[in-house]
Amino acid sequence: MSLATQGKSQLKSNTMNISYPDAVIGAEITGVDLSQSLDDETMGRIEKTFNERSVVCIRGQENLSVNRYIEFAKHFGNVEKNFLDNYHHLEHDEVLLVSNIQENGVDIGHADAGRVWHTDMSFMETPPRATILHALEVPVRDGIIRGDTNFSSAAAAYDSLAPNAKTKVDDLIVVHDVFGRRAKTGTGTQDNEKRKNMPNVRHPFVRVHPFTGRRCLYVSPGECIGIEGMDEEEAVPLINEHAKLITQEPFRYRHKWQVGDVLMWDNCAVQHLATFDYKWPEERRLIWRITVGGTKTM
Ligand code: SIN
Repeated sequence: MSLATQGKSQLKSNTMNISYPDAVIGAEITGVDLSQSLDDETMGRIEKTFNERSVVCIRGQENLSVNRYIEFAKHFGNVEKNFLDNYHHLEHDEVLLVSNIQENGVDIGHADAGRVWHTDMSFMETPPRATILHALEVPVRDGIIRGDTNFSSAAAAYDSLAPNAKTKVDDLIVVHDVFGRRAKTGTGTQDNEKRKNMPNVRHPFVRVHPFTGRRCLYVSPGECIGIEGMDEEEAVPLINEHAKLITQEPFRYRHKWQVGDVLMWDNCAVQHLATFDYKWPEERRLIWRITVGGTKTM
């Protein structure tokens, strides 16, 4: 590395600032430019903050190209091809468009992401480590930014359990179905061949975080259909009770978007929920979304 490059790298690391919201999760980073390649120290600090705080927003990335965005994501693991076959970036099928914008009456992106509290793709045997969003347009009305994204800490929720309540769930194995319990009542959307052919998968009720070792509740009413060795009458209330606990106010952080934000979350440690408080399609929202591969859960 030349002296000039060394100086530049050092400067980048020194200009980075990390601040924390009044919440058990979340961090805001300013003073880095993801359109440039970052030195190891800066990337290391971002990753450490991500592991510790579960949700990290890097502000001010208005000039980020799709290629640099993908390069940044690759630092955290394998950038996965999108699960959905449509709505991806024209040149990069690993980038999903999340948007309410329509062109000629047709949605240009996935318009419905995050309607309920969930962790991404727990119906996969190896669910993603992280999801990374980049905001290109955010809706604003009366000077107020709309479309906040809410997060809640599954690690803090686990920590809040009494010792005997922890013991009760520590070794349970949960069955996840891509259609969840909706499939049983026939109200699920079963028009996607890929989904139809997906087998159920098993994950621990309590996941041990692969980087921090923290224990995290890993249940949601959406995809979890049962617990191995337990009657449905007992399993479903247990799942629902713990899923509800995860989303309680003390464990939450609400992200207020700005154009240029790069926001990433940890799918083991948090669940998320989008807010649909903007008008469609005129209050435009356009977000790029990448999922980064994870490790097996057991
Ligand atoms: C998502 O759930 O992937 C998107 C969340 C959001 O649009 O706020």
